[in-house]
Amino acid sequence: MSSEYSFQTKLLHNRHKFDEATGAVSVPIQHASTFHQKDFDQFGSYDYSRSGNPTREALETAIAELEGGVRGFAFSSGMAAISTAFLLLSKGDHILITEDVYGGTYRMVTSVLNRFGIDYTFVDMTNLHEVALNIKENTKLIYMETPSNPLLKVIDIRGIVKLARANGCLTFVDNTFLTPALQRPLELGVDLVLHSATKFLSGHSDVLAGLAVTKDKELGERLYALQNSFGAVLGVQDAWLVLRGLKTLHVRLEQSSKSAQALAEFLQKHELVKKVYYPGLSDHEGHVVHSYQATGPGAVLSFELNSEEAVQRFVNQVEIPVFAVSLGAVESILSYPAKMSHAAMPREERYKRGITDGLLRLSVGLEAAEDLIADFEQALQAAQPRISL
Ligand SMILES: Cc1ncc(COP(=O)(O)O)c(C=O)c1O
Repeated sequence: MSSEYSFQTKLLHNRHKFDEATGAVSVPIQHASTFHQKDFDQFGSYDYSRSGNPTREALETAIAELEGGVRGFAFSSGMAAISTAFLLLSKGDHILITEDVYGGTYRMVTSVLNRFGIDYTFVDMTNLHEVALNIKENTKLIYMETPSNPLLKVIDIRGIVKLARANGCLTFVDNTFLTPALQRPLELGVDLVLHSATKFLSGHSDVLAGLAVTKDKELGERLYALQNSFGAVLGVQDAWLVLRGLKTLHVRLEQSSKSAQALAEFLQKHELVKKVYYPGLSDHEGHVVHSYQATGPGAVLSFELNSEEAVQRFVNQVEIPVFAVSLGAVESILSYPAKMSHAAMPREERYKRGITDGLLRLSVGLEAAEDLIADFEQALQAAQPRISL
C-alpha cells in the first residue's frame, strides 16, 4: 500500500513512522559508536557506527525510497557524498562533466582527481551533440547538474543517459536544486543521484549533510565499500535533523516554488531588470525539456541588473532575504555569484558563461510572495542610477 502513496504522503507514512521497539514517532538518535556482540562469532545488525548506524540508516533508507533507488548513503556534507562517489573511478578513467557544475565539484575534479590520473572534459551539456563529440574510449562517467547554478540551464537527462549507455558510461546527477519532490533522475535511467542535503532536503540552514542513492544493487555494494573505507559518514544528530526536515519537504518546496514563479514573473516585467533565469518562465531556454523531466521549476532563480553598482545598491536596500551563500532554506537567501560562488573564476571565464557583475541568485523561502515582491520593488527603485544635477 505505502508504495502507492503520493510523494507527499510517503514523506510521513513510511517505515520510520514510529519506532518498533518503543512506539516513538520520531526516529531515536542512536549515539553508540559500537555495538555489543552476543558471541565471538555471532554478529548483530550493527557492529561499528562507521559501517552502519540505525539513525543514519533510517535516513539512508528514506532517501533511497524517495528517489526510487535501491540503496541510500548519508555523508558528512554534499562534497563528501560527491567525492566518495568519484572514488568509483580508477586511474586512467575520463569524466565528462557539465561546464557549470558547482564550484566545490569543479575543485575536486580539477585539483584533486587529476592528481590520481583521472582526466576530465567540461562541456555544455545542454548540447547533446557536443556531449557525444567529447566521449572518449576511456570515458567512464557523465556528470550532470540540472538545473545548473546560477543560470538554471537545463540538461536533457534522458538524452544523456542514452549516450552514456551506448558508450558504457555511468551517469550521475546532482539533484540538490530540485530534490526527489520535483525530479527523480533514477526513474529517467541515471545510475546515481547526489545531494547536498544541506539545502532543500533539510531546509532550515542548520545542518551540513550529503546523500547518495544508487539505482542498482551492485553499484550500491561498491559505494557502500567506499563509504566505509573513506569514512566521511553523517553524524547521528545531523541525520535526525535531515529526517525532520524531510517531513516538510513537499509543502516547503511547493510554497517556495509558487513564490519563486510569482517573483520571476514580477522581475521579468520590471524595467530595471535585464534578464531573469528561471525554468518556470516559458521563454527560458530549457523550459520545455525541464517540463518533460521534472514536475516543477523549483525555488531558485537568478536575475541580472545593469551593473555591479546597481547590485550593490539593491543589496544594501533589500530587507527580507539574508545575503549569504547557500540556498534551499525556509528563509529567502540572496547571493552574488561574481563575488561568492564564482569568485575564483577569472572575469572573462565568468562572462563567457553569462555570470556577469550584474547577476544575483535568489533562493526563495517561505515568506509571503507579496512581501518579497514589495521588498524587491523598493530595492530596485533604490538601485536606479542617480542622476546628478
Ligand atoms: C548543487 C550543489 N552541489 C553540491 C554542493 C556541496 O554541498 P555541501 O556544501 O553540503 O558540501 C552544493 C553546495 O552549495 C551545491 O549547491
